[in-house]
Amino acid sequence: MTTAVADAVAAVDYDHFVTEPDGSALPQSSSVTSIQQMLEDLDVRPGHRVLEIGTGSGYTTGLLANLAGPDGLVRSVEVLADLIPRAQARLQTAGVTTATVTNGDGYAGDPAGAPYDRVVAWATPHVIPSTWIDQIAQDAVIVAPVKVARLARAHAIVTVTVAGGRPSAVSARPGGYIEMHPEPVTVFGLPLRYVDASHVPDGAEPWWFSSPALREVPGAPSQILDRLRSDHLASATPLTTAEDLDDFTAWLYATAPAELATAGLSDRFSGIGAATEHGAAFLTEDELVAVGSPDVVRTLTLWIERWRDAGQPGWSGIAGVVVPNSEGWRVRLTLQLPAIADLKF
Ligand SMILES: C[S@@+](CC[C@H](N)C(=O)[O-])C[C@H]1O[C@@H](n2cnc3c(N)ncnc32)[C@H](O)[C@@H]1O
Repeated sequence: MTTAVADAVAAVDYDHFVTEPDGSALPQSSSVTSIQQMLEDLDVRPGHRVLEIGTGSGYTTGLLANLAGPDGLVRSVEVLADLIPRAQARLQTAGVTTATVTNGDGYAGDPAGAPYDRVVAWATPHVIPSTWIDQIAQDAVIVAPVKVARLARAHAIVTVTVAGGRPSAVSARPGGYIEMHPEPVTVFGLPLRYVDASHVPDGAEPWWFSSPALREVPGAPSQILDRLRSDHLASATPLTTAEDLDDFTAWLYATAPAELATAGLSDRFSGIGAATEHGAAFLTEDELVAVGSPDVVRTLTLWIERWRDAGQPGWSGIAGVVVPNSEGWRVRLTLQLPAIADLKF
């Protein structure tokens, strides 16, 4: 940890913000390790103007106010109205005077405090919204979880460095937060975007299926989902214990094969793999779950072989790219090219 982030963590009392009257932790609070990593990437300096999306308990608002110091400001936007007075009261009793918490949809940002030197989000938008871009200074840093494919659960935490109003560097690390939602979420465990078929059982994790390739094929996603629920075969994962599913996932996002699909497999949680009209095959942490034609398992196996041939690149070999569109900056992952000096001719 840098001294600045370590000092802020030491100065702001986590329990003061997060603990509920009955001693439990507010559900809308984040892991401290993830917060610290993202604050390192954000690099808030004294005097900075900071936009925060997803106030939650107000703990990160307190950290940001500490990092920006008495000459900086923090504008924090939270979609759940009930959390606003709670966060405001705790910020006040913690002596924070430079942060403002407002109720709204973070997709709109907060023009009242613009231009911002830093933007940080603790909930996942599908693109970096154009409002945030309109509200940043010419030189700025944005750290946010964001979707990296039109695929449910495909996200990364990216750091976008903006120089002269244009993105000049994008790095990506694994991780994600809840998807940004315009109103309270009622079904937990079901992604909000890019789910092509779903089933929510009583008292169990949902089943869902996401496949850009089958999205426009009438009936195909629900057929695959029905088969996954009723007659899937599960076997041991083909990945060895030394091989990391997170790294393989990063490589899949970066190479983006057309048949790439994700699924929520109820109590097995989520899987990533391949789907065609004839079947689907998904890797979970320890299993291969498949339905339909063995050709789909062959496709997934071929991807694993290609990943091995490429030296099993993982998140450390991945960079982000941003592509402007009408909604903002779409983020995609790409394989980092080796430095010329490392190439063997
Ligand atoms: C992981 S929590 C934030 C935790 C917070 N950083 C803390 O320290 O307690 C994510 C927050 O984002 C909020 N959120 C979700 N969608 C949002 C949106 N569209 N606009 C603003 N906030 C949103 C959630 O209500 C939740 O409080």
